[in-house]
Amino acid sequence: FEASLAALDSSVPPAHRVADRHAVVPVATIGHFQNTPDTDPSVRANRDWMRAAVTKAEKSDIGTAGIDAARIDSTAALNDLLERAGATTWRTVSGDDRAKVLHRIGERIEANRAALIEVMAAEAGKTADQADPEVSEAVDFAHYYADLARELDSVDGATFTPAGITLVTPPWNFPVAIPAGGVLAALAAGSAAVLKPAGPAERCGAVLAQAIWEALDDAGVSRDVLTLVQVDEGTLGARLIAHPRIDRTILTGAYETAELFRSFRSDLPLLAETSGKNAIIVTPSADLDLAVKDVVHSAFGHAGQKCSAASLVVLVGSVARSKRFRTQLLDAVSSLTVGYPWDPSSQVGPVIEPPAGKLLDGLTTLGSGESWLIEPRRLDSSGKLWSPGVRDGVRRGSAYHHTEYFGPILGIMTADTLSEAIDIVNEVEYGLTSGIHSLDVAELRTWLNRIQAGNLYVNRGTTGAIVRRQPFGGWKRSSVGPGTKAGGPNYLIGLGSWNSRPATA
Ligand code: ALA
Repeated sequence: FEASLAALDSSVPPAHRVADRHAVVPVATIGHFQNTPDTDPSVRANRDWMRAAVTKAEKSDIGTAGIDAARIDSTAALNDLLERAGATTWRTVSGDDRAKVLHRIGERIEANRAALIEVMAAEAGKTADQADPEVSEAVDFAHYYADLARELDSVDGATFTPAGITLVTPPWNFPVAIPAGGVLAALAAGSAAVLKPAGPAERCGAVLAQAIWEALDDAGVSRDVLTLVQVDEGTLGARLIAHPRIDRTILTGAYETAELFRSFRSDLPLLAETSGKNAIIVTPSADLDLAVKDVVHSAFGHAGQKCSAASLVVLVGSVARSKRFRTQLLDAVSSLTVGYPWDPSSQVGPVIEPPAGKLLDGLTTLGSGESWLIEPRRLDSSGKLWSPGVRDGVRRGSAYHHTEYFGPILGIMTADTLSEAIDIVNEVEYGLTSGIHSLDVAELRTWLNRIQAGNLYVNRGTTGAIVRRQPFGGWKRSSVGPGTKAGGPNYLIGLGSWNSRPATA
C-alpha cells in the first residue's frame, strides 16, 4: 500500500487533458483549487467526440457485466455484506494519504468521461451538454474533498473519528455527480462507502464505481472501501436503510423519502438534500434578454428534472404588466428542440419515465385562473418526450405554487412589488435554490436579506452549482440533517464524530 501511494504524486494538478478531448480554460480558480473544465463544444473535435459518445448510447446497452455489484436478495446476504464492508484499514490511513487516493480517483473519473457521458445518455436520457458538466462536477468533488481530507487531520483541539460505514442513496437525475459526491465525501472522511444507486440509474452507478475501483487498485487500497449494492426498494431496501451497522446515510431525494427513511429507523443519522420548488424573480430593472435565457435554461435543462430547477418565474411590476417578457419567453421555449440525446439537435431530453401522478397533472391540468402560454404536448409513443409547457396566471396559494413537479413545466406568477414577490417565494415550504434578475443594488440587497433558500443566484440561472464556488444544499424542507452543503467547506464534518483533545502546552 505504501509503495503504491508513494507512486502517486499528489502535487500533480487534476488532469485537464485526456487524449481525445481538447483542453479548455478552467472555469474558476479559487486559491489553489481549480475547477475542472467542461468540454468546450465550440471546438469541432470536441463536438465530434461528444457526439460519438451519445451516438454509441443509442446502440449499446452499456455492458456492466464484470462490474461487481452485490445483489442483496436476503436478510442474510445483507448482514453478511455489511459485516464485510468497511472491514479495512482505511480509517487508519492519514488525511494526506487519503487525499492522494482521492486525486487519483478524480483522474480515473476524468479518464472515463466518455463512458460516463455514454451511460448517462443511454440510461438517464441526458443530452451531452448536461452529462459533460456532470462528469466535471464528479471530478471536482474528488479533488476538492481531497483538500478537506487533509484539513480534517489538522483541526486544533479536536480529533475526528470517521463513520464506519456511510450509505449513499443518490437519485437518478444526477446519476454520476451526486453518487460521486456522497461516496467521495465518505472516503475523504475515512469512512467506507456503500453505494445504492437509484433503480433507474444502476448502470451509471456501476460505471462510476468501476472508475473509483480502478483508482483504488492503482493506490493499492482494498476495493471493499466502496461496495456497490443492488437491492429492491421494498422490505430489503428498508432493512438496508435501518441496519445498525450503517453509521451515516447520505440521501438526495424527495422530502417524503427522507421521512420514509426515518420511519425505518428513528435515530437515522441522515445528511439529506431534499425537494425544491424554486423561483426566479424578475424585476423591472433586469436585463430581460438574459433573464429569459436563464429562466429557460433553469426550467427546461434535463427536462426540468433537477431539484435545483426553476419551476416558477415571478414577474414584478411593469415586467408583469407588459407583454415583452412573455413574448420573448414564448419564442424561446417554443424554439427548443426536444429529442433523445443521440440526436445532436436535442436541447431538451426525455423524462425518465412516462409521466404519472403529480407530474402528469402538472403537464395536463390547469388550476383556477391559469392558462397555457405554451401547452405541453406528448411527442411520441414512448410517453417520455414532452414539449416544455408554460402556464400563466398561477395564483398564490394554488397547487402549482407549492408543488414540486420535477418535469418540463414552468409557471408564471406576478407581484406588484419585489417585497410581494419575495413573500410569494418564501411562502413555499421548501428553500433549495432561488434566483433574481435585477440590476438594482438596493433590490438585490433586499432580496439577499429576506429570501429563504440554500443557494442564491443573482443574474444567473438556478441550476449547475459549481463545487466550492457554490456549495450546494437547502433550507427549510429542502434539507434534513446538519445542513452542511455538498462541495462546501464543512461537508465532511458530519461524516464522523468529534472528541475534544486536551490543549497541549
Ligand atoms: N447541484 C445540482 C445543481 O446545482 C443539483 O443543479
